[in-house]
Amino acid sequence: MEIPTRLVLAPMAGVSVQAFRRQGRRFGAGLVCSEMVSCAGLHHGNERTLGYLRIASDERPLAVQIFGSEPDVMAEAARMVEDAGADLVDVNFGCPVKKVTKTGAGATLLEDPERACGVVSAVAEAVSVPVTVKMRRGLENGSRACLELGPRLVEAGASSLTLHPRSARQMYTGEADHSLTAELVSRVDVPVIASGDVTSRARAQAILATTGASAVMVGRAAQGNPWALREIIEGETEPPTREEVVAELILFMRATVRELGEKRATGFLKKFYGWYLGRGRFPRPFKQELVQLEVLGEVEERLFAAAPGSAAVLARLEAEHPEGEDDVLLDLPISIYGGG
Ligand SMILES: Cc1cc2nc3c(=O)[nH]c(=O)nc-3n(C[C@H](O)[C@H](O)[C@H](O)COP(=O)(O)O)c2cc1C
Repeated sequence: MEIPTRLVLAPMAGVSVQAFRRQGRRFGAGLVCSEMVSCAGLHHGNERTLGYLRIASDERPLAVQIFGSEPDVMAEAARMVEDAGADLVDVNFGCPVKKVTKTGAGATLLEDPERACGVVSAVAEAVSVPVTVKMRRGLENGSRACLELGPRLVEAGASSLTLHPRSARQMYTGEADHSLTAELVSRVDVPVIASGDVTSRARAQAILATTGASAVMVGRAAQGNPWALREIIEGETEPPTREEVVAELILFMRATVRELGEKRATGFLKKFYGWYLGRGRFPRPFKQELVQLEVLGEVEERLFAAAPGSAAVLARLEAEHPEGEDDVLLDLPISIYGGG
C-alpha cells in the first residue's frame, strides 16, 4: 500500500473525528487514522461511547484503530473495519489510560508479549488489508519493551509499527525519546512511523534523518492548526489569515454537527475554539466568549463578525469539498477513553 506523503495524522480520541481526518488529508497528510474504536463494545453494548465511527472514501487512505485484548474479539472487529472500507487496521498497544489498561488492553500489552502477538496474528489472519500496530516504549519510565516486542509483532503479522517513545506512566510529560525509534528501525524490516513531539518541518526532518523512520506522525501540533501539516510538508508557508482560520473552524463545526449531532457537537467543539483562535490569532477573551455560548449558530455569528471576509472563503471550501456523499457507519463504538 502506498502512502502519498511521509506525514501521518495521529489518532487522537476526542479529536480525530471525520472532519479532522478530512481536513488533515486536504492539508497534505498521506494517511489519517480514526480514533480508537472499542472491541469490547461488540460484547458490552452498554459501554459509554462517543457514537459510531463514520468513514467515507475521501478520507482514504484511512487507518481505523481498534483496541482490546481478546484475539477472537479483535479479529471480529477487524473484519468489520475492513468491510466498512478501511485501508489499514491499526491495533492500539499504547493507550495509557487506567480504564483501558486495567482490562489488559492498550499499553498493558507491551508487557504481555504472548498475548500481544496472539492479538496481532489473529487480526492479521482475519483480514486481507495490512495490519499495523501503534505502541509506546513500555509501561514504566526507561522501559525498552517496545524493542523486544516490535520484531515479534512483525513476525506475528504486523506490516508497520508506529512508536510513540514515551512510557505509559509518562502520559504526555517529558520528551519522546526518538533514539528508541532509531533502534526499532534497525531491528525490523517493515516501515516504522515516528510519533511524538513533531511540531515543525525542522523537527520532522531531524527525526526522519536520525531515526531512519519512513514517516512522521503529527498529533497535538495539528489540533486547530492544519497549517502545521502544510508547513511540515512544504516548508516555509505564510501563516493563515484570520479569514482562513475562521472559515476552517466553521467548516469543521458544520461537519462535526453532521457527524455527532448538534447536542454532542456543542460540547465537543469547545476545546477547538482555543486551539484555532489561540496562537496569537485572536485576542484571548474572544475564545472565552465563544465557549460560554450554547448555540452553535451564535458561535458562527460571532466568528463571521470577527472576520467578515471568512464567509467567501468558507463558501469556496464548501463548494470544493462537498461532504457526506458516501459515508458508511461502522457498527463499532468510538471509545471515550483514548491515548497512546
Ligand atoms: C487527546 C489525545 C488523544 C489520543 N488518543 C489516541 C488514541 O486513541 N490512539 C492512539 O494510538 N494514540 C492516541 N494519542 C497519542 C497520539 O496519537 C500521539 O502518539 C501522541 O500524542 C504523541 O504525538 P504528538 O506529540 O504529535 O501529539 C492521543 C493523544 C492525545 C493528545
